[in-house]
Amino acid sequence: MEFLNFEKYTYLEEKHKNYLKNLADYVQSSKYLPKFHIYPQTGLMNDPNGLAYFNDEYQIFYQWFPFEASHGMKHWARVSSKNLIEWEWQGPALIPDKEYEKNGCYSGNAIEKDGKLYLFYTANYKIENNGRIPKQALAIMEKDGSIKKYEKNPVIDGAPEGFTGDIRDPFVFEKNGKYYMLLGGKTLKDEGKLLIYKSENLLEWSYFGTLDTGIENIGYMYECPGYIEVDGKDVLIFSPMGLKPQEDRYHNQFSSLYMIGKLDIENKKFNVEFMDEIDCGFDFYAPQVFYGKNKKPLMFGWFGCGEQVLPTDKEMWRHGLTMARELHIKNGKLYTNPIKEIDEKYKKENLLEVLNHKIKNKYYLIDEIIEKQEKPVILQFGAEDDNLKLIIDFKESKITLDRNGLAQKFDTEYGLTRSCSIEKTDRVHLKIYVDNSFIEICINDGERMMSSRIFFKQEEK
Ligand code: FRU
Repeated sequence: MEFLNFEKYTYLEEKHKNYLKNLADYVQSSKYLPKFHIYPQTGLMNDPNGLAYFNDEYQIFYQWFPFEASHGMKHWARVSSKNLIEWEWQGPALIPDKEYEKNGCYSGNAIEKDGKLYLFYTANYKIENNGRIPKQALAIMEKDGSIKKYEKNPVIDGAPEGFTGDIRDPFVFEKNGKYYMLLGGKTLKDEGKLLIYKSENLLEWSYFGTLDTGIENIGYMYECPGYIEVDGKDVLIFSPMGLKPQEDRYHNQFSSLYMIGKLDIENKKFNVEFMDEIDCGFDFYAPQVFYGKNKKPLMFGWFGCGEQVLPTDKEMWRHGLTMARELHIKNGKLYTNPIKEIDEKYKKENLLEVLNHKIKNKYYLIDEIIEKQEKPVILQFGAEDDNLKLIIDFKESKITLDRNGLAQKFDTEYGLTRSCSIEKTDRVHLKIYVDNSFIEICINDGERMMSSRIFFKQEEK
């Protein structure tokens, strides 16, 4: 197929549809496509957006540049599902065709009111010298799936005093009968902050201040905040940029954090009882939390991070989302295991057979208990010259994922190993979801998750 060149800030129009249809067919010939993870039909996908259970279906929107596997003009696309496993493509949801969003429809979330789904997003509006005027916008989805941008957009225009133009990723929620919006931002002193806006009706918003977590110096900018109640606790998440590695933590280009505690929104305080990284793999960022059916707390993450260059770029698609994860609090920590129902969809394979190269299938689940051993247990997946190692060290209570042995390396500037601590234990419950190039490792039923993209060479044969 002959690829066309597109100016970075091109938005999707009728005239592109045929080309994109051909491009979508082309992407289908990729050897690295998953079966159970959401991936872009064409081009680049990043953050999950607007996650909701609405109209008896799960609605998953995501950041999307349709034309190339690179970060260009961001649209929102939508897929829907009855069960969080089989997805139906619903097409472009937000196309940045208005002046106030001339550089893209950036991330945001969704909230239902009066039978309509309110979609909040950042209207990306660039000015000279890489600056921005922060603008937050609203679009409303009806039950028939039609989406209209609010005619008085943007609903918030500009930055409060002391902030740069980097303010984005609205997360709107209801608390004590009022609506609040959290936004990620950067102050003029280059500090990450969470901003709060308040509203009675979801249409008019006023600045309320910043959220005080009592924890400073976690990066120069925050992205993608979120708030959810899990098992009687409040959970705050966000994705700070510029967080320096600390021991085993925060080795990715950017990290995603959770804080468990108590939100006192009227006093703009979050009292933190515990905080940690959300996922300890190589490729995870910008997760979003939401309530599913029966108010079940759920999360999707972007299966990617920053500006990666991946082997599928030449196949005209890049990245995907994690599988749906359910949230629980256990031992004061946030557990984020893939939803249980997904296990039945995977073919179960035996660990030893996989290690001994007896399995040719590219989509399977390993579900095993590893008993304590004195020396670290080293599980080597793949061939001698193209492998991934998972190391379980019972003495140190530590799990390490080592991608030094892979033939196709990428993102190497952020290191080739990731480690995380676990509770002291005599047995580790390992669940490894292999969905072709998307691998999610679930340790002790969600105590730790490691999400990593792996492109085994032999799969190119
Ligand atoms: C996070 C992010 C968001 C932004 C979006 C743009 O990955 O940078 O802050 O809204 O991606 O695609």
